[in-house]
Amino acid sequence: MAISKRVKQLGAGVFARNDFRKQAYQREALEKDLLPLIDLSLGSSDLLPPPVVVKAIQSAFELKSSSSYCLHASTKPFRDAVALWIQRRFGVKVDSEKEVLLLVGSQEGTAHLPLAVLNQGQSGLILDPSYPSHKAGLLLAGANIETLVLKASQLWKPDINSLTCSQWDQLRLIIFGFPHNPTAQVGSQCWLDEIMENGKKHQVVIAHDNPYFDLALDGQAPSLMRCTGWREWGIEFFSFSKGWCMGGFRLAFAVGAESIISALKQVKGVIDFNQSLAIQAGGIAALSIADDWPSFILETYRERRDKAVAKLKELGWPVDSPSMAMYLWASLPSWAKAQGLTDEEFAAKLLSHTGIAVTPGSGFGIGGDGWLRIALVRPAAEIENAIDQMKPWWNVNS
Ligand SMILES: Cc1ncc(COP(=O)(O)O)c(C=O)c1O
Repeated sequence: MAISKRVKQLGAGVFARNDFRKQAYQREALEKDLLPLIDLSLGSSDLLPPPVVVKAIQSAFELKSSSSYCLHASTKPFRDAVALWIQRRFGVKVDSEKEVLLLVGSQEGTAHLPLAVLNQGQSGLILDPSYPSHKAGLLLAGANIETLVLKASQLWKPDINSLTCSQWDQLRLIIFGFPHNPTAQVGSQCWLDEIMENGKKHQVVIAHDNPYFDLALDGQAPSLMRCTGWREWGIEFFSFSKGWCMGGFRLAFAVGAESIISALKQVKGVIDFNQSLAIQAGGIAALSIADDWPSFILETYRERRDKAVAKLKELGWPVDSPSMAMYLWASLPSWAKAQGLTDEEFAAKLLSHTGIAVTPGSGFGIGGDGWLRIALVRPAAEIENAIDQMKPWWNVNS
């Protein structure tokens, strides 16, 4: 069968192989009475959405309008709720008609954005490592992909000064994103200010993927809404998936320059019909009634982070305490490096010997080579048990 070059370029990749291994392990665990799978490889929260959100969705679910297609005009109540939230959180007034767009996910938005703002062959820059939709969106748009590699030696701080003037002049789009998945760094407002300032100067669209905005454990998460210049050259992506634990409901939004929002809206116009009004009712309840939910779940993630870091240290695997919620970003243990294991090989062995699934960092780009992402998406006691479960295998190998 003919498959497009575009799709071939997307490739199956590290994540698909990791998923395949998890499925194989689960089948084997049933047959051979192995330890059950503990999946710490997906950034999908085990925590529940606010009850008020679930109730709002339930109440709207049976309405006829909830099962109808939803055109842009009908998303107005949702966009108005977004505008009010932006005003409360940032003191910034946005035009809900022209500067706000409903998305089916921040992933969907970031993946479709290059189609809206780039011509084939134009250059877009992503952080490396970064969330896969950033690169995939550029690939699908036939863009030339540049990367800004984040390094452990620089504490994962993007070296913005390493971008030369001629590079800035070539670029048409930068996809930035802090708090950052997978390095679990909150980042800094001044990095984003600098990127936005340069974006404006060199006429480069600055996209800021910010689904973890409310999930900073230490410090303050940056936002494009605090930068000057976003109304001409910026777009920021927010999501209900992480802060409100609504990942499966698929709802997010973008706020940005009128021209960028309008272009993305046009792309989406031929791709989706927004989201059901019932789910939008949940989003409205989240922003207007349960806007403190992220700060509530943050304490759960703080406990998980602190307990997991302490337990790993006890095991002999020192991991820096991350400044954002949900993930640990762990370097390959020294014994695994000495054995010449890659992050993917280590993750495969960890799974087959202990039943614990983590994500190989190389799946997020070469900047993630030699690193592993551990998602703190199980209760603290289960994460501690999982680390205990590693001990026999660890002790034999280390
Ligand atoms: C940086 C980043 N962007 C986007 C997403 C996907 O978010 P959504 O569920 O809103 O599509 C994730 C999910 O892990 C993420 O880490």
